[in-house]
Amino acid sequence: MRKPILAGNWKMNQTPAEAIEFVRALRPRLAQYLPQVETVVCPPFVCLPAVADALAGVKIGVGAQNMHWAEGGAYTGEVSAAMLKGLAGYVIIGHSERRQYFAETDGSVNKKIVAALAHGLVPIVCVGEDLAQNEAGVTETFVSGQVRAAFAGISADQARGVVVAYEPIWAIGTGKTATSEVANRVCGLVVRGALAEIYGEEVAQAIRIQYGGSANEKNIAELMAMPDIDGALIGGASLKVDAFVEMVRAAAEHR
Ligand code: PGA
Repeated sequence: MRKPILAGNWKMNQTPAEAIEFVRALRPRLAQYLPQVETVVCPPFVCLPAVADALAGVKIGVGAQNMHWAEGGAYTGEVSAAMLKGLAGYVIIGHSERRQYFAETDGSVNKKIVAALAHGLVPIVCVGEDLAQNEAGVTETFVSGQVRAAFAGISADQARGVVVAYEPIWAIGTGKTATSEVANRVCGLVVRGALAEIYGEEVAQAIRIQYGGSANEKNIAELMAMPDIDGALIGGASLKVDAFVEMVRAAAEHR
């Protein structure tokens, strides 16, 4: 049984002061669902110390939204996995906004996953096609190619601990969600299918795959009811306490 995992990707939102207030409001309301649903918040880097502190002793995970693959050195503006340790247990890698605006490639994504795993961070690896690719009917080849590239050189044992987020770019922040059937098909046949080809069926069945892209409190139950969708990576709706709590509640109920 794969434990459901919901992660809030705050993107470039919330100051440290706002973040503290937000997680303080979240904390008591999520407590009852945490045994059933692994729940993670991913604030901006500068909020990590405050959020880690506000959530000390609580089983709500904290994630970063990015990291650099190098141990350290002359990389102005970057943050290493070693720096995240103690503040974050998870790290989003290869989000489509990073690929689109910050020139991340399959190669840099792979290096980041290797570094995150070496430091004991759980990578949440994002894949997904854009609208043109979707309309051209190349979703399957493109997404399975991203999965293969992301996992290059990762052992089967390490792969079990990686979370993959399938996020069709055309659904991110647009209010357009992939139908639960389409999302399930890509998560299952394409992402899990590619993982099965690399690692075999048993390992592929152990890896958790999230859906992301306009997931909200209204569609989460239907998404979570799908057999190959193990959770969600949530942008906009994760910035509202009520919506995020309702999503975690629904995930606890529907899986
Ligand atoms: P959204 O973002 O839920 O606002 O569409 C999801 C994401 O980019 O991770």
